[in-house]
Amino acid sequence: MTEAPNPARMTPDPTAGLEGVVAASTKLSHVDGQNGVLILRGKTIEDLAGQMPFEPAVQHLWHDFDLPGGPPLRMAFGKARIAAFAVVPLLENAPKELSVFERMQLGLAALPLKSGLADAVAITGALPVFLAASHRIASGLSPIAPDSTLNTATDLLRMLTGTLPPEGHADALNRYLVTILDHGLNASTFTARVIGSTQADLKQAVLGAMGALSGPLHGGAPGPVLDMIDAIGQPANAEAWIGEALARKERLMGFGHRIYRTRDPRADVLKAGLKLIGAENPKVKLAEDIEAAALAALKRAKPDRPLETNVEFYTAVLLDAIGIDRTLFTPLFAVGRTPGWCAHVLEQQQTGKLIRPSSLYVGPEAE
Ligand code: ACO
Repeated sequence: MTEAPNPARMTPDPTAGLEGVVAASTKLSHVDGQNGVLILRGKTIEDLAGQMPFEPAVQHLWHDFDLPGGPPLRMAFGKARIAAFAVVPLLENAPKELSVFERMQLGLAALPLKSGLADAVAITGALPVFLAASHRIASGLSPIAPDSTLNTATDLLRMLTGTLPPEGHADALNRYLVTILDHGLNASTFTARVIGSTQADLKQAVLGAMGALSGPLHGGAPGPVLDMIDAIGQPANAEAWIGEALARKERLMGFGHRIYRTRDPRADVLKAGLKLIGAENPKVKLAEDIEAAALAALKRAKPDRPLETNVEFYTAVLLDAIGIDRTLFTPLFAVGRTPGWCAHVLEQQQTGKLIRPSSLYVGPEAE
C-alpha cells in the first residue's frame, strides 16, 4: 500500500494520461479490456501461460522477426547467460546502496551488444543473471555462475539459491514469466517504443522501459501487495483495514487497471498456478479472503468505476509461495517483460517513424 496521488486527478486535464489514444499498430498483443481477454500474436494468454515454458513462448512472440541463426532460444539464452556473467564483477564492485533493480540496469549498461534481435537475445539472457547475482551480492553471498543447459526459469532459481529448484517452482516461475511477456501499450512498453523510434539501440530502450516499470502504479505494485497481506495478517482484520485505507484515500495495490473494466485475465492464470504447485502457504487462503473484502469495499467506494483484481495481486502471492523475496518482484517483472519490450522496439523501428506527438500549450501568452 502506498499513497499515490494522481496529478491527472488534481488538474482536470483531458490530455493527461493519453487515455483512449491509439499510438501504435502492433501484431504483438491485444488487450480487450471490456471482455478481459489478452491475446499474444493470435493466442490467448491461457493458451500460452502454464502450457509451455518461457523460451517457446518468447519464440512465439518473436515469430515475425528474423531469429538469429544457430541454436534454439533455450540454448541461445543459456549462452547469453554465460556471456553476461562476465559483467558480474562490475556489479560486485558497485556502491552497496544500489538496489537489485539499479544493479540490473548497471549490468545492462555494461553489456557488450551488437544489433537487432541478437541484442534482444543477449539482454533477455543477461537480466536473470544480473537479478540473481545482485540479490546474492545484497545478501552478502557470492554470485553463482549460470548453467547454460537449464531453461531460464530453472537456472534463475538455481542462481538465486545455489540448489536446483523443485520442478513445481520452476513451472510456476515459467507460468509467471509467460503471463507477463507482453501487454499492449502499457507505460513501459510505450517508453521502449518511444526510445526505439529515435533509432536508439535496444539497450537504451530496455533501460528506459525499466525506469517506467519501477513506479508503484505500474510494476512496483506486487511488493506492496504482500506488505498489505502481511499487515492485515488474518481474514478477520481485512474489512476494517481496507476500509481505513480507502478512507485515507489510499489505493489498494493489486486492484484497478487503465484498460481492464473486468478482471485481469492474468490474475486467474497466476491463481491457477498456485493450485498446481499445491501451495500450502497460509498466505494463499488469507489472500483470497483479502481479495474478496477488497473487491466488495472498492465496489462500495467507487460504484461507478469497475475496480477489479489486476495481475500484481496474484503475482505477489505466487512468487511468495515459491520463496521469491518481495524485493525481487519488480526485477522479475522486468525479466519477463523484456522480450515484449524488445519486440515492440523492433516493430516500431520497422516503421522508420520517430514518435513525436504534439502538446496543447496552456501557458501565458507571449508579451
Ligand atoms: N484503489 C483505490 N482506488 C482506486 C484504485 C485502487 N487500486 N485504482 C483506481 N482507483 C480510483 C482512483 O482513486 C480514482 O478515483 P477518483 O476518480 O475519485 O479520483 C479512480 O479510481 C480512477 O483512477 P485513475 O487513476 O484515473 O485510473 P487509471 O485507469 O489511470 O488507474 C491504475 C490505473 C494506476 C493501475 C490504478 O488502478 C492504481 O493505482 N492501482 C493500484 C496500483 C496497481 O495495482 N498497479 C499495477 C497495475 S498492473 C501493471 O501495471 C502491471
